[in-house]
Amino acid sequence: MKEFEKIIGYSAVKKELKQIADILKNDKVYSELGITKPNGLLLYGEPGVGKTLMANCLVEASGLKCFVCRKDKPNGDFINHLKSMFKKALDNAPAIIFLDDMDKFANGDIHRKDAEEYVTVQSCIDEVKGRDVFVLATANNILNLPDSLLRAGRFDQRIEIKNPVGEDALNIIKYYLNNKKMKIDVDIKSLAKILNGCSCAELETVINQAGIYAGFEREKYITMQHILKACLQIIFKVSVAREEESNNWLDNLQNRNELSSRIIYHEVGHALISEVLMPGSVSLITAYGKEGNSGGFTSIYRDVSMENMNWMKYNILISLGGMAALEQKFGIVDSGARKDYSKAFSLVKNLVLDDCICGFNYFSNSFDISNKLKESQEYVISSQVYQYYLKAKEIIALNKDLLEKMARKLATRKILYAAEIQEIKRGCEIVPINF
Ligand SMILES: Nc1ncnc2c1ncn2[C@@H]1O[C@H](COP(=O)(O)OP(=O)(O)OP(=O)(O)O)[C@@H](O)[C@H]1O
Ligand SMILES: [Mg+2]
Repeated sequence: MKEFEKIIGYSAVKKELKQIADILKNDKVYSELGITKPNGLLLYGEPGVGKTLMANCLVEASGLKCFVCRKDKPNGDFINHLKSMFKKALDNAPAIIFLDDMDKFANGDIHRKDAEEYVTVQSCIDEVKGRDVFVLATANNILNLPDSLLRAGRFDQRIEIKNPVGEDALNIIKYYLNNKKMKIDVDIKSLAKILNGCSCAELETVINQAGIYAGFEREKYITMQHILKACLQIIFKVSVAREEESNNWLDNLQNRNELSSRIIYHEVGHALISEVLMPGSVSLITAYGKEGNSGGFTSIYRDVSMENMNWMKYNILISLGGMAALEQKFGIVDSGARKDYSKAFSLVKNLVLDDCICGFNYFSNSFDISNKLKESQEYVISSQVYQYYLKAKEIIALNKDLLEKMARKLATRKILYAAEIQEIKRGCEIVPINF
């Protein structure tokens, strides 16, 4: 069905949608088998993942007349509108009624599942049941919808649409870059790692924003730097322009070099540990800070096939990597890493209390425990964090060459992406670690 070609990726979802479109289009085939048509389908998921696009493709492929309802009227008028659209769909049956963003229908009453709008939709659905009107709906948050509305018989099928990852993210980026003028330095694989798990709407906006930067600089082509800047702005909420300004301000500080070196080694410490433990996992390192924070940040790509407990353990080491790098390089305690410490402590706490990594003695799933047990749990957690910290320092010490090379490059470029990091790694001997 060529109507679905507009949807990039999502092969499993497309298959399900094609099946439903086929039932709606060729109902005789199914009725001869004694099958009754499904009454409705709900597509739900985060904003911008393509629910409306997918619903429209389904409508097109079914070849049926469609009546669309969106919350674009005041409450009373909207209820009348809903009733009249269901009636029109019934008069034109077989037809589709499409309730787009259904969880916004009662937006004045977000926590009231018995809002008049939902009651109306429910009674309208019951009225058209078995009368050849297919009810198609989209929603962001199904928790806002009444259970009775969601039950089978009203929406026989529910499909969750998740943000694109892996190959899907890669193909969607390729699609958005397709008709843009780009320099050959644009590395789509590295971009797909940075944008893995972002919504299609975000991907589209990033590429567009990169074009705006290029246009404003009167450049003929969009470069990788433009796209990276747009990623920082749209995805990570970092304004590169503002960061550059604050760097000018830092120029006037006596300890400017010291400060920026600390930021750089701290970030490279995180990235180094991640790359040693999970080669190819760092999607981006930057010395620019998020939303007014003075430090930079490192973005890590998670391979979905990785076992959760290993991911947690590696993350503890990665969190402590910034602090370990500063001790290794400057012999100082990192005073700006409170978030990293809390992350490491809370991950270790989960491993000790929920996953029994230190034995059953410390397992705890209740608040009602003795003070003695609580004390010993705290002791075990702190000493575990310390062990992880020693390991992080060992990894950094064994890979000093990589630390220095990455730090030098980050100091000049301020942003490094996956392919650049791999290039640096090729020039170093990486010492792996048993863990
Ligand atoms: N898989 C996809 N392939 C190509 N383009 C896509 C895909 N998914 C989404 N888009 C594009 O991304 C943008 C947002 O999609 P859409 O409006 O369908 O999202 P949505 O899930 O309905 O969002 P909301 O919850 O905010 O209503 C649109 O321009 C759409 O064409
Ligand atoms: Mg939508």
